[in-house]
Amino acid sequence: MGNSDIKKVGLLTGGGDSSAINDYIRTIVILLEKQGIKIHGVKGSYKGLIEDEFMELTSKFVDGIQCTGGTCIKTSRTNPYKIEGAVQKIINNIEKQNIGALICVGGNDTLGVALKLAEEGLKVIGVPQTIDNDIMETDYCIGFHSAVENIVKCANMTITSAYSHEREMIIEVMGRDSGFLALNSALALGADSLLIPEFPADLDKLADLIQRKRKAGKKHGLYVVAEGVQIQGGKQIQDDIDAFGHKKLGGISYTIAEIIESKIGIKPNVVVLGYTQRGGTPCPYDAYLSTIFAKGTLDNLINGKFGYMVAVKNEKPVNVPIADAVKGIRLVSREDYDFAVSLGDIW
Ligand code: F6P
Repeated sequence: MGNSDIKKVGLLTGGGDSSAINDYIRTIVILLEKQGIKIHGVKGSYKGLIEDEFMELTSKFVDGIQCTGGTCIKTSRTNPYKIEGAVQKIINNIEKQNIGALICVGGNDTLGVALKLAEEGLKVIGVPQTIDNDIMETDYCIGFHSAVENIVKCANMTITSAYSHEREMIIEVMGRDSGFLALNSALALGADSLLIPEFPADLDKLADLIQRKRKAGKKHGLYVVAEGVQIQGGKQIQDDIDAFGHKKLGGISYTIAEIIESKIGIKPNVVVLGYTQRGGTPCPYDAYLSTIFAKGTLDNLINGKFGYMVAVKNEKPVNVPIADAVKGIRLVSREDYDFAVSLGDIW
């Protein structure tokens, strides 16, 4: 059954930003405008829904934003289920604004709230966006490929110093509890090794690799370490915990470097990439995928398919119940990890 009765939709972007969100926004705005459907951006994710802060999006407004990173409607990590009375305010504001359906673009937290709002009776469509690429049931999330490209570019710029100074270089990347950013970057870089959260870090093995490699004549190296990797005694936790209960990660590589030094007397240099990997202009593949996500969103609006996340499988948009997408996080398989590790160990 069609849902042509929807004349206005709301769009929010939640959680950590990335480089290709504006590509998605531009495309969905153009597609909806051509259908005569108005689209209002919610400022700053669920915060804007609670506080009744919207901005009209038109094709003229979004013209040109595809070249820019971040999100033009802004984001936050607001969890309405942690704020008293917030959910009722959201329901009231959506009714007041005559919003017929809500598009929620973000990661597991944003989509988790979207699912709960769908259960409250709102017409919701989810779209996966996170550099972590850890959402289930989709090949890719908006932002992932651009972040990998940023990581590869930055890491490549450190190799010259690693070579000239005969240093071992650890590049620490984001990804929270998933190792996809580290895996794809390590493969693209031809890294000597990688450590990811899915499997306990074996630092004896890493120290041994460095020694064998140096003995064989290669006196520099590149190791990709995911921020969420587990090592004994590693201080992963910094001070903050966000509204969804996530610890702020970052800096584990300094501890790893110290442990390696204690084992073999060589202290790797550490580069924590931080927000540089999430910023800047989108890479073409990410920008292209964003248009596919937007096409899938339009189809769902027209066909009245709500409570689903638009996933991408084999570069085609497919629907997945949001409940299935957020039932856990997507993790790197043992096989894929071992493959990447084996490519670096040729000594
Ligand atoms: O979820 C995306 C992500 O970039 C993670 O990789 C990282 O751990 C986290 O966000 C950082 O969060 P914040 O932007 O709140 O510091």
